[in-house]
Formats: sequence, C-alpha cells, structure tokens
Amino acid sequence: MKKELSVSAIKEGSVIDHIPGNAAFKVVDILDLKGLRGIISVATNLTSKSTGKKGIIKISGKDLTKEEVDKIALIAPNATVNIIKNYDVKEKIKVAIPSTIKKIVKCSNPNCVTNNEKVMTKFYVLSKDPLKVRCHYCERIMDKEDISLL
Ligand code: CTP
Ligand code: ZN
Repeated sequence: MKKELSVSAIKEGSVIDHIPGNAAFKVVDILDLKGLRGIISVATNLTSKSTGKKGIIKISGKDLTKEEVDKIALIAPNATVNIIKNYDVKEKIKVAIPSTIKKIVKCSNPNCVTNNEKVMTKFYVLSKDPLKVRCHYCERIMDKEDISLL
C-alpha cells in the first residue's frame, strides 16, 4: 500500500512554489482568497531537493495579477508562480522585486501624506537584498524590518 499522499495537480489556476520556511502563511495573508470558490491547498514543511523545507500554495480557478506576484516577491523572493491551463504549466514566472513598489507597502512615517490623505504609496527600491526602499513622498528610507504590507 502506498502511504505517501501528495497535493493533487490542479486543472486551472495558479501554483506558488518554492516558498521558503513558513512564509506560506504570510503569502496566504496578502492574497485575498476568501471569496474564491475553487479548491485552495496550502502545504508547508515539504522537503525540497535544493533548500531544506518549502511551501506550496495551489489556487484553483484564479490567475494571479502582476500586483499579487510582486507582493509575493517581497515575502518569498525565490518563489515561482506557475499558471496552469488544462493541467499544463502554461507559464512559469520567477517572482522579482520590482524597481518601484506601488500600493502594497505602507510608509512607516505617520506624517507621510500617504498615511493622511487618499494617496497611493510609492517607493523606490534602493536595494533588493537586503530590501531597502525610499518613500517617493516623504523620502523616508525603510529596511526590511520597517516594511509592513498594506
Ligand atoms: N502543478 C500542479 N498542477 C498541474 C501542474 C503542475 O499543481 N496541473 C504544480 C507542480 O506540482 C509543481 C508546480 O506546479 O509544484 C510546477 O510544476 P512543474 O513545472 O511541472 O514542476 P517542476 O519542474 O518541479 O518545477 P520547478 O522547476 O519550478 O521546480
Ligand atoms: Zn512616506
């Protein structure tokens, strides 16, 4: 009897693969998955050939937007997003931190216009690893530790 049970392949949708450590739960938090009707599977602590443990999220019936893929890059810089059509991997996207980040990140300066008026946040990425960004509006520089997602 085969005792191993793996997460099933999906027919249509998105598979986020190679998520490090326990970051899968953070990725679930930033994606708005609550209204979806398809099956969503989250697997963590899977053994990966290359890097210790990894997580995978499989979302049936949803193609991730560019904005969502960019968000994932901020949490899981080595993740891969696979777009699945009729069981085939139609597209494999290596997530990448963009050179400017719009919306997504919150400015840590309470006096910044983005925290007081209806203005979308915008940051310039000064360094990708370790992540360091500068607010377009108040010029505050934030490190990975100061960065919280909207
Ligand atoms: N996958 C899935 N359903 C499908 C096709 C693929 O859930 N119908 C998943 C696979 O389980 C894998 C990911 O999508 O986690 C990427 O699939 P594939 O490119 O075939 O796997 P690998 O070659 O192992 O990918 P990589 O090179 O990115 O590690
Ligand atoms: Zn600011």
